Amino acid sequence: MSPLAIFFFFFFNLSLATNTIYNVQNFGAQSNGKIDSTKAFLSCMGFCMCFYERLHYYVPRGNYLIRNIYFNGQTCKSNAIAIHIDGTLLAPSDYNAIDNDGSWIKFEKVNRVSIYGGIFDGQGASLWACKNSKKNCPKGTTALAFYNSNNIVMSGVTVQNSQMFHILVDGCHNAMIQGVKVLSPGNSPNTDGIHVQSSSGVSIMNSNIGTGDDCISIGPGNSNLWIEGIACGPGHGISIGSLGWESQEQGVQNVTVKMVSFTSTENGVRVKTWARPSNGFVRNVLFQHIVMSNVQNPIIIDQNYCPNHESCPNQGSGVKISDVTYEDIHGTSATEIAVKLDCSKTNPCSGITLEDVNLSYKNGRAEASCVNAGGRASGFEELSKCL
Ligand SMILES: *[C@@H]1O[C@H](CO)[C@@H](O)[C@H](O)[C@H]1NC(C)=O
Ligand SMILES: *[C@@H]1O[C@H](CO)[C@@H](O)[C@H](O)[C@H]1NC(C)=O
Repeated sequence: MSPLAIFFFFFFNLSLATNTIYNVQNFGAQSNGKIDSTKAFLSCMGFCMCFYERLHYYVPRGNYLIRNIYFNGQTCKSNAIAIHIDGTLLAPSDYNAIDNDGSWIKFEKVNRVSIYGGIFDGQGASLWACKNSKKNCPKGTTALAFYNSNNIVMSGVTVQNSQMFHILVDGCHNAMIQGVKVLSPGNSPNTDGIHVQSSSGVSIMNSNIGTGDDCISIGPGNSNLWIEGIACGPGHGISIGSLGWESQEQGVQNVTVKMVSFTSTENGVRVKTWARPSNGFVRNVLFQHIVMSNVQNPIIIDQNYCPNHESCPNQGSGVKISDVTYEDIHGTSATEIAVKLDCSKTNPCSGITLEDVNLSYKNGRAEASCVNAGGRASGFEELSKCL
């Protein structure tokens, strides 16, 4: 655009301030997947956000090669961004071509951010190969990260082949993540689907997650988390934790996980804490209406996590687990012990409820094992004897 054209573009749009749609191609983004379009994306976002109250930002069909994008909502007067994507955003396939310890696309301190549609492809295969051959590799980037932001909407978005976590929600209030797909192979290391921590009011609904690590992982400091209608697999299941690494840590409370199917995953629903002193806690959790198909550990509480007996030999976990309900959980276990509640010797679990839990192994009912766990179970003898 000539300076005059830019002037008119700017001037014209200023008068239409709200609901104007900015097409990244007008800022020079190339849709051939080869020419770096980072600058075009950044200048579009920077330009639009800094002058308009509510930005609608449009990415047409095509492939866009993008390096790291960091968007800080505090630098502009606008506090809202809505991105409509029909195309695919591609990270460089060479992990050394971007800052590879942090986030690929990051939003921070944005008050209202909505992303509709599109594919975010982290092209992580070369980094996974490095990690799987145990060479000295960079940590890798989270594909899409939201820090200290409020009122997040993600709808109909696909995030795939991330180097590390696919979606991170950290320090946020109110997020609705729905109709999302996470697609990565089962052998991709550290590729959690959605990781949520230090956040409240996050909902994750009607999404398909297949990856090499946890489908959804729930870190310290979460409250009022709602997870419903998820298909998980391959992957390591839905996990609260690991918690309790720190001696001073915020707890996790009021978590609902319902209508989830797990297919050939390592775990189904898990709570995992380090065997170390901590003031953390997990309370008021409901796991309900869940179907397991060939899951290795369908229901598991592991409070003795201490890989290689390093940093915690013979210690008990300080994380207090209470009021956790498992209700209407059916299907098949890939191992004999389908319910394994291994609670802390220093802080036993209390208020565990197992109701209508019926899991089979081969042609019989699967076993249950409980250590330091108190509560009640209805139905099968194996379960009621366990608690
Ligand atoms: C628990 O969280 C849900 C949202 O996930 C919320 O609607 C409900 O009010 C919360 N309950 C309490 C007791 O805070
Ligand atoms: C438990 O599951 C098995 C196998 O799916 C089924 O045959 C049996 O009827 C179930 N029992 C109850 C009480 O639901």
